[in-house]
Amino acid sequence: MDAAVYAVHLTGTDQSFSCAADDTVLRAALRQGIAFPYECNVGSCGNCKFELIEGQVNTSWPEAPGLSEKDKQRNRWLGCQTRAMGDLQIKLRTGDKYRPIHTPVRTSARLVSSRAITHDISEFSFELAQPMTFASGQYALVQMAGVTGPRAYSMSNVGASATALSFQVRRLPQGAGSAALFEQLQVGDAVEIDGPYGMAYLREDAPRDLLCIAGGSGLSPMVSVARGAFASEPLTSRQLHFVYGARLPADVCGQDMLAALPGWPERGSYQAVVSGMDVDAPLPEGLARGFVHDWVDQAYGDQLADMEIYFAGPALMAQSLLKLLIARKVPMDQVHFDQFY
Ligand SMILES: Cc1cc2nc3c(=O)[nH]c(=O)nc-3n(C[C@H](O)[C@H](O)[C@H](O)COP(=O)(O)OP(=O)(O)OC[C@H]3O[C@@H](n4cnc5c(N)ncnc54)[C@H](O)[C@@H]3O)c2cc1C
Ligand code: FES
Repeated sequence: MDAAVYAVHLTGTDQSFSCAADDTVLRAALRQGIAFPYECNVGSCGNCKFELIEGQVNTSWPEAPGLSEKDKQRNRWLGCQTRAMGDLQIKLRTGDKYRPIHTPVRTSARLVSSRAITHDISEFSFELAQPMTFASGQYALVQMAGVTGPRAYSMSNVGASATALSFQVRRLPQGAGSAALFEQLQVGDAVEIDGPYGMAYLREDAPRDLLCIAGGSGLSPMVSVARGAFASEPLTSRQLHFVYGARLPADVCGQDMLAALPGWPERGSYQAVVSGMDVDAPLPEGLARGFVHDWVDQAYGDQLADMEIYFAGPALMAQSLLKLLIARKVPMDQVHFDQFY
């Protein structure tokens, strides 16, 4: 039986959308082109908060870190964790940059292959029942059987209308999603995939050299952006610099994927920077030592304001990079990033 469908109205505006009882308020809005603010889609960042003016909702994750006790007292909810139980009146401020460039679709998919990239990062490839159009650098939500809530994973393939998606995922020792992907999911098994989401996608109309910075599992969207940039006609005269931040030499990866791009190395450079080695341990050839934001500042400091900058990875790395880019007066419309919560 199809899920019930409710009407959601944005108070004080002429905007409304319909929301199926089995969809979240955020994703239903985005599917209908509403510029509903969000970032992570998984309950952590708090950007999708709205105030409930009228109607009834339920949340799939009452303890989600994106919502404080004060928010709850003010009848605020997270759009990405909330489902409608009837017609709603909600209050929020929309923002043009959140309007989807491609309509998110929810489809079933099957795992077709997996391969190890490092000791703790693997690439998982899925075949979709319905095509999904996405831009290089975007992410999708993967719902696996037995895991509470979907996991956000960024595509590593070039943005296109695709029936095949690949995700490069880092295994977390205690992670429920990691355990399901790395230990339980078998080739042929089904998942649900919903996407695309995210604003950190390749800007093909930006006439600047590109800097892609990946930390750990941030590899996937940065590889996608690099692949997209090398496939993009308007960007053929642009250089792309790729910096990979890792803890130890054994964690370093990505160079082989870039080396496979036609035009590499004439149009691109790759540097890995490791932060977790003892200061007196000898550094393997080709690697740099330190934190990725410090290395980026040393290597590109004066040039940063003339570059289109993409980054993805742990929140700590993202915050350090943001601080640097602000100090270097890089216009924020040249900066595109995802923090992995
Ligand atoms: C935009 C974005 C893109 C990302 N892209 C990648 C990528 O390309 N590769 C990669 O390796 N990682 C990526 N991540 C991180 C990834 O989504 C997971 O957080 C990470 O893999 C750890 O998941 P886990 O299940 O192993 O760990 P867990 O600790 O089990 O789960 C952490 C994640 O699950 C969510 N969660 C936890 N409990 C609940 C609940 N009860 N209900 C709903 N949600 C819950 C959290 O918000 C968090 O996202 C991305 C994250 C974001 C936000
Ligand atoms: S988008 Fe809902 S908490 Fe991040």
